[in-house]
Amino acid sequence: MTMRPDALRLVRDTQHEGDVPVDPSRQAVDGLAFFSDAQIVARYRTLRSGLEHDPAETIEQPIVRSFLGDVGGRAVLDLGCGEAFLGRQLLAAGAAHYLGIDGSPLMVAKARQTLAGTGGIVEQHDLERWCGGLIGRFDMVVSCLTFQYVADLPRLFEIIRHHLKPGGVLVFSVEHPVMTSSYHALAPADGRSGWAVYDYFRHGSRDDHWLDAVVRKHHRTIAQLIDIVRGHGFDLDRLSEGEPDRANFETVQGYEARLDVPICCVLRCIRRA
Ligand SMILES: C[S@@+](CC[C@H](N)C(=O)[O-])C[C@H]1O[C@@H](n2cnc3c(N)ncnc32)[C@H](O)[C@@H]1O
Repeated sequence: MTMRPDALRLVRDTQHEGDVPVDPSRQAVDGLAFFSDAQIVARYRTLRSGLEHDPAETIEQPIVRSFLGDVGGRAVLDLGCGEAFLGRQLLAAGAAHYLGIDGSPLMVAKARQTLAGTGGIVEQHDLERWCGGLIGRFDMVVSCLTFQYVADLPRLFEIIRHHLKPGGVLVFSVEHPVMTSSYHALAPADGRSGWAVYDYFRHGSRDDHWLDAVVRKHHRTIAQLIDIVRGHGFDLDRLSEGEPDRANFETVQGYEARLDVPICCVLRCIRRA
């Protein structure tokens, strides 16, 4: 299967009616401003709902759910919950409590609709400033594809540690560092797809031209992520680089097309006593 270069993205870009190339002089915004823009969120929703092979669904979410394991009776905190689809699934799977946090008022409104009729709760906070207050209340913290938007991740890890019971589990996914190093898809002549890796060891932020806008993301190598985990009171329990599982793909071609480039990294961490 030949994959369009933009299909390599974790959530791939598509052409939209009226698309115009992004003005190179356009200022990058942070993740919170990006996901608070109604036009961008509309494009993002189209993208997520219209994907034939949404890699978040076929690769990232199955790994996150497997790393969470049995959530029966557990209190779960979800950071950057987006539309809270994971929250609805976890509550259906027996989670006792679910609190989703997101900074975007658009995401929070949609998440509340998603959770209507369940016991799930959603609050609007900027994770760069959020301090919480529910100390030691949670058995599990989960965060999907959000930490690459957070500039001060060590600060957030301190807060997460305070919110987890000793022995509690933190599962988080980020865009794979191979992808966040630089944002250039390749289309080699053999019809396969590739990704240009530049500046891998140049730590810091990157501006990603995505959904007709420019969003700032924070590139961290796998070693840096592990250092943050270990340096803030957690042991690393499991790490996945998003290796696809054939069972989650309808076709062998869809599966094989995902064997070229890693799209996400998922870490399971345990809060030390
Ligand atoms: C790629 S979406 C992922 C949403 C959801 N976790 C999922 O997997 O579908 C990233 C989410 O992070 C949220 N976000 C980004 N920066 C944030 C910040 N500083 N504070 C709170 N939420 C933020 C966005 O509003 C958005 O909902």
